[in-house]
Amino acid sequence: MGLTTGVALAYLGHKVVGVDKDPSKIALLSKGKSPIHEPGIEELLVEIKREQLTFTEDTAAAVRDAELIMIAVGTPAKANGEADTSYVEAAAEEVAQSIEEGKRYILVVKSTVPIGTNRRVSHVIEQVLKKRGIQAHVYLASNPEFLREGLALRDTFYPDRIVVGSESPEAVEALRRLYRPILEQTFNPPGFLPRPESYDLPPLITTDPTSAEMIKYAANACLALKISFINEIAGLCEKVGADVVEVARGIGLDARIGPAFLGAGIGWGGSCFPKDTAALLAMGREYNYAMPIVAAAREVNWRQRERVIEKLQSALKVLRGSVIGVLGLAFKPGTDDVRESPAIDVVRLLLERGAHVRVHDPVAVENARKELGSRVEYYDNVYELARDADALVLATEWSQYFDLDFAELAGRMRQKVFVDGRNIFTPSEVTRWGFIYMGMGR
Ligand code: UDX
Repeated sequence: MGLTTGVALAYLGHKVVGVDKDPSKIALLSKGKSPIHEPGIEELLVEIKREQLTFTEDTAAAVRDAELIMIAVGTPAKANGEADTSYVEAAAEEVAQSIEEGKRYILVVKSTVPIGTNRRVSHVIEQVLKKRGIQAHVYLASNPEFLREGLALRDTFYPDRIVVGSESPEAVEALRRLYRPILEQTFNPPGFLPRPESYDLPPLITTDPTSAEMIKYAANACLALKISFINEIAGLCEKVGADVVEVARGIGLDARIGPAFLGAGIGWGGSCFPKDTAALLAMGREYNYAMPIVAAAREVNWRQRERVIEKLQSALKVLRGSVIGVLGLAFKPGTDDVRESPAIDVVRLLLERGAHVRVHDPVAVENARKELGSRVEYYDNVYELARDADALVLATEWSQYFDLDFAELAGRMRQKVFVDGRNIFTPSEVTRWGFIYMGMGR
């Protein structure tokens, strides 16, 4: 999020300095290389003029002359699900150590932070300034981010809305100016990212910081529970003989429901939904307020992983010693991120059952290796992976898998069992080659 925002703002003509503690990231970025797989980032790193966008490990140097400072550090989940804001507070403290007497700064919290964090940040800044015995004007704003991995630049240039929560008119005005090219769509789109034809100008929602913080959590939880809802319906579809893909289409056309995020499958993962729903529950506990809907969304989501194991077990009978290939390891296509990836969870469950697991992913193998080590076999080629395998599980819907040659796979496998964990195939396309096809909810 930090990298995408920095790159996008520089592209829009702002002068941006990106700060990170990790020297290897700074070294890569300074050479125009992205430390993560995110479409378009490297193209823009090359396109943007050097003086517009620089990278450093030196917070003080970056902050001193800045007009606007964004904190975009991580807020990982603690063991009890609460979001850990210590990096945000540490960043705020460093910022306060670096600002100069008498100057004016806008400090923007972009990280996803629990309710009240803005107040804490403001307190941290005041304390440090007091200790330093200096005065400066620091105007705070909460500006949550809604970008998706794999589509991060698209979501930044063409957002549905921009949310600014602040009690300071100066901060609101500064952010309105900062985002003006996006709000008014006056920039020339990058060649690879044309403005979508039906795109309307995004509204700027200005509100109080607490509501802005809540908007972020509520948005992610709402999307997560939409997916869990369709997954719950998918389970019942299997029992009664309905096809959840048809059901999702049928309900998604109702404008009040909408078609997005009704893709049934092995569930949601990634760096946001799991962490943010856990953080919401933790906030609920803190305020002695039960949140059964969010809790149920998480339960259903975990059950989807187990459903895959049940399906394999019903087809293969014995999992111990079976050779199972898992296609896709990233938590979704378009990214090399495997954090909370449903695919990785499925692999782990299979290993626990004594299966022999082979894996393939077009970009996430390096990250997956850190999670799975040498307990699985890594393949570059799906057809090699399929040789003498008992079953294949499609866990991440990479476009490469859409044109799998089932005739070829059928000739290579020991048993022809295919679990379509993302419902990307028409069952008959697969069964005509002699496969047992099992989707999720069909
Ligand atoms: C999400 C939010 O969409 C974004 O607004 C927020 O800023 C960060 O969190 P991201 O985690 O990048 O973005 O991915 P997203 O595209 O939302 O997908 C999340 C998970 O849901 C993935 O594991 C995906 O496979 C799953 N998913 C998505 C489904 O299972 N079915 C769907 O229909 C859609």
